Amino acid sequence: MAVIITVAQQKGGAGKTTLAANLAAALAAERRVAVLDIDPQRSLARWHALRAAQSGAVPLALSDAAGWRLAGELDRLRQGHDILLIDSPPQIATESRIAVRAADLVLVPLQPSPPDLWAAEGTLALAAAERRPARLLFNRAPAAGRLRAEVAAEVARRGWPLLAAALGNRAAIAAAFARGLGITETAPKSVAAAELRAVLAEVGRLLR
Ligand SMILES: Nc1ncnc2c1ncn2[C@@H]1O[C@H](COP(=O)(O)OP(=O)(O)OP(=O)(O)O)[C@@H](O)[C@H]1O
Ligand SMILES: [Mg+2]
Repeated sequence: MAVIITVAQQKGGAGKTTLAANLAAALAAERRVAVLDIDPQRSLARWHALRAAQSGAVPLALSDAAGWRLAGELDRLRQGHDILLIDSPPQIATESRIAVRAADLVLVPLQPSPPDLWAAEGTLALAAAERRPARLLFNRAPAAGRLRAEVAAEVARRGWPLLAAALGNRAAIAAAFARGLGITETAPKSVAAAELRAVLAEVGRLLR
């Protein structure tokens, strides 16, 4: 049975698809990984199509089942894989609920800015309503700076769970995505890859 990680955040552009793709690519080196794209924009599916054209890339299973097919597809994907990563759309649609309900962990990326913070509230509430564990994750975050500190303080004040690991604003991550790859594949020695591995390590500890 696969462990299911759902990436959700109703704020558009927070980094859901980028995070799902990079986690999937990194995990695929050692585990049987499937990705499920339930966003009608199909960005993760397009990333996967680019990946299929990269001769060296470890293959990943992809599904973009939606609507009434989703529940059955979740059961099917759970069977043949170790890890299932689900990328969800930037709103709380019926499919997002199903994906959150199925999750062993919900990851909520947010850029350290007020709109991302405000939008995260609805996603965390959804996870709480479904009784699923959720973690916020800073994405495109400056290593330091006033805004990050202020948003982190607000997260703490609200008692929201935030991963210690974070991803910076890394052009190499966007470049890897454009090739259907993850940062640990294109630039394994980069700071960005180290950040991604730190996220994975923390997620691994949570799921153990
Ligand atoms: N850590 C990062 N460093 C640099 N660029 C990033 C990073 N994360 C995401 N981006 C860029 O930010 C933009 C939005 O990212 P992404 O598409 O992953 O967000 P999303 O939450 O999936 O958006 P949507 O809500 O539209 O589905 C993209 O151009 C992506 O390349
Ligand atoms: Mg997306």
